[in-house]
Amino acid sequence: MAEDKTTDKDAKNADAPPPETRRLIHNPVYPTLMLGLFALAAAASLGYGNKATEGPIAERHAEDLRASLSQVIPDSRHDNDPSADTLRIGDHTVYRATRGGRVTGVAFETVGYGYGGAIVVLLGVDADGAILGARVLKHAETPGLGDKIEASRDDWILGFDGLSLDGTPSKDWAVKKDGGRFDQFSGATITPRAVVKAIKQGLEFFATHKGRLLAAAQTEAGT
Ligand SMILES: Cc1cc2nc3c(=O)[nH]c(=O)nc-3n(C[C@H](O)[C@H](O)[C@H](O)COP(=O)(O)O)c2cc1C
Repeated sequence: MAEDKTTDKDAKNADAPPPETRRLIHNPVYPTLMLGLFALAAAASLGYGNKATEGPIAERHAEDLRASLSQVIPDSRHDNDPSADTLRIGDHTVYRATRGGRVTGVAFETVGYGYGGAIVVLLGVDADGAILGARVLKHAETPGLGDKIEASRDDWILGFDGLSLDGTPSKDWAVKKDGGRFDQFSGATITPRAVVKAIKQGLEFFATHKGRLLAAAQTEAGT
């Protein structure tokens, strides 16, 4: 009877890839080629992911912008979409609210520098230069100390409604500790001081560019 001389080594050799494949795998170019292919696949999948989320993200931003604008310019003041009626002045993008083609209010960002860095305030102003609303969009102030500037935490920011440069003496545009009319927060004066300054500067920007801001409504989006 013929003896089966198949050894373990032979069994392994039977599973081994054919010589051409072995040559390819041992070729020094092989790892580089594989790495390149993986990188290409990863880049393609990232690119596809970016493209797929681009639209929804842009739509989300547009919704957020419309929601913020409606907090600083009441909807009853306009029959247009202020987020789509923009004007570029210097570094500022100005959103204009119009009714029957007449500008009834504008909104733009104004920035102050607090304890934690930049505080971005969206300021809505009517055609006479009076504040329609102010909301802090971004800040890095300390929770529990400086975050009372957020409308969701405190009414403090509502204290600016209706004020204007004409109707409020210059010395009043400061926190009480500095002789002004605005409350500081207990243990936190830097933050409200920065917001008061940013809002006053916003009103000064309005006063400087009033003619252009209130000129017959025309969209300058992207200019
Ligand atoms: C950890 C830490 C965080 C603080 N965060 C804030 C802040 O967010 N806003 C602020 O106005 N002051 C903050 N303060 C307090 C300020 O350093 C400062 O004492 C306070 O604003 C009073 O300012 P004044 O001396 O000008 O009145 C913080 C202090 C510490 C120690």
